[in-house]
Amino acid sequence: MNQIKIFSPATVANVSCGFDCLGFAVNDLGDTMTFRKTSSKEVKIIDIKGANLPYDVDKNVASAVTLKMLEKYPVDFGIEISIEKGYSPGSGLGSSAASAAGAAVAVNELLDKPFTPLELTKFAMYGEKVACGSEIADNVAAAIYGGFILVQQYEPLSIVKIPVPKELMLVAIHPQVKVRTKDARDVLPENIPLTDAVTQWANVGGLISGLYSANYDIIANSLKDIIVEPARKHLIPHFDKVKNAAIEAGALSAGISGSGPTIFALCKGEENAKNVFRAIEESYKDKNIDFTMVYSKINTQGVKILEKK
Ligand code: HSE
Repeated sequence: MNQIKIFSPATVANVSCGFDCLGFAVNDLGDTMTFRKTSSKEVKIIDIKGANLPYDVDKNVASAVTLKMLEKYPVDFGIEISIEKGYSPGSGLGSSAASAAGAAVAVNELLDKPFTPLELTKFAMYGEKVACGSEIADNVAAAIYGGFILVQQYEPLSIVKIPVPKELMLVAIHPQVKVRTKDARDVLPENIPLTDAVTQWANVGGLISGLYSANYDIIANSLKDIIVEPARKHLIPHFDKVKNAAIEAGALSAGISGSGPTIFALCKGEENAKNVFRAIEESYKDKNIDFTMVYSKINTQGVKILEKK
């Protein structure tokens, strides 16, 4: 094989209660990337469409991950990379993670698959470090494994894949405001009361149990974040208005996607998701802030191979 084209999904990290340890992949939003073997032995970015991202191979997440993999697994060819961003960086929908995870999976294919999904996750985490300074796994693991994932442990890394109830749908709104992950992490409390910790970890357990049993009532009741959301929501204009509109329209719940500014809602079934989409749109349309919206099933497959040559 000389060339591979992949689709790498957007991801929603944290999923309200699971700060830095839960995430899921989005079916209908993501990046398309092509990786081609060359005789030059160099790694090169040859094209970036849809976003203003660096061509410098050490700064671009996709090439940085590729270089890291080739350090571990040297080969006698180079790799050229073309990137088509399907959504904007800085949205809170795991844009750097999509590039990092896509690169890890695609390069592994070009190398004849020497690495396991867990190893690919670690390479992709290096991409997160290049992008934002922290080796966070929640977005990249969701993009690689698909569906819902739990980062059960960082040292050594342990990822648990969690089933996705069939009718679960995502609606998300991306208000066009800037929230840097670093800034969104700087506002977090350093210590939390034990009673809050108990509430939060009970909700993580509840959410996972609800996902396993496809019990939408438990899912709805567990999608609560009493620690991170209160500290971050002021960074997202009209957050409460959107969240309330989504819940009033029948969403299971709504919260901040990753570090924001995207607000996500989970819904049961298409009809419900359509109503929630309209309610969120309505709640934002007179706010003088541009926004984009997405409505999608949950991606259960992770990075998809579109073409091999
Ligand atoms: N879990 C991370 C955060 C996701 O909320 O800061 C952003 O990469």
